[in-house]
Amino acid sequence: MATATATRLRYEAIKPKIGARVLNTKEELLSGELSEDILALMEERGVLVFPGIDFTDAEQVTFSNSLGGNADELAGQNQDAVFKVSLDEKAQHRNVVEYLKGSLYWHIDGTMNPIPIRASMLTAKVLAPEGGDTLFANTATSYADLPEEKKAALEGLRVVHSLWCSAFYHTPEPTLEQIDDWQSKGEAEIPLVVTNSSGKKSLVLGNTAHYVKGLDMKDSQRILHGLREFATSEPYMYEHKWQVGDTVMWDNRTSLHRATPYDPYCGRMMHRTIIKGGEAWETAAR
Ligand code: OGA
Ligand code: MN
Repeated sequence: MATATATRLRYEAIKPKIGARVLNTKEELLSGELSEDILALMEERGVLVFPGIDFTDAEQVTFSNSLGGNADELAGQNQDAVFKVSLDEKAQHRNVVEYLKGSLYWHIDGTMNPIPIRASMLTAKVLAPEGGDTLFANTATSYADLPEEKKAALEGLRVVHSLWCSAFYHTPEPTLEQIDDWQSKGEAEIPLVVTNSSGKKSLVLGNTAHYVKGLDMKDSQRILHGLREFATSEPYMYEHKWQVGDTVMWDNRTSLHRATPYDPYCGRMMHRTIIKGGEAWETAAR
């Protein structure tokens, strides 16, 4: 029951169509009292910034657990730990570095999971001296701004997503062995426009979006890349310039994100947790 002393979520919007800065103290965030409000604000704003919150790893895991649970969907990570985002083989396994190279292009985390990741969260531990910012784009507010005829034309389109499509972004001349490995990770077919249980529609795009089922490659690429260009344009995009200790969390169903280029060996280190998803991509779309 709410009382006069209940902790309130305090925040300010960053841009009209994306982002909010949460101003509560670490103690307030870790109390668990704000969990529902934080998830609601994330769904409304797409990206939440917790400036200089300075979570330890244990605190980041506790906070993630209070929001629905840190998921253990990735190699090298378990539920009680943070996942190290680094492009340096000295800091992270070689195969994980391979996969993280995809983070330099617009993407959604884990599009091939049957239940999509609800949210992802990064805390900056070591910054890149140059580059290494993270860009976010709200694919719900961009979808909402599409002309009605365009929305009607997209209705019912289905897109095949795969890791092997995204791998060509960073490794355009792979060996056959690499292709076999990438393709062994499978593919997933999901709607281009998804509706979540609260009725919000958003676009599912990014470097895993390979082709639109039933269209020829030219039309398919024009649709997927044209929408990505629109969805990541200025009104829908937020660029986070990191300070050590910042945490940023994003609604992974309704956001694209990417890192800007940085030297893989500069020491940049982000600690990631991911919040378990609750509903399939297609819950409300079917
Ligand atoms: C991720 C990711 C971007 C970055 O961890 O999922 O895409 O800026 N990271 O490191
Ligand atoms: Mn990512």
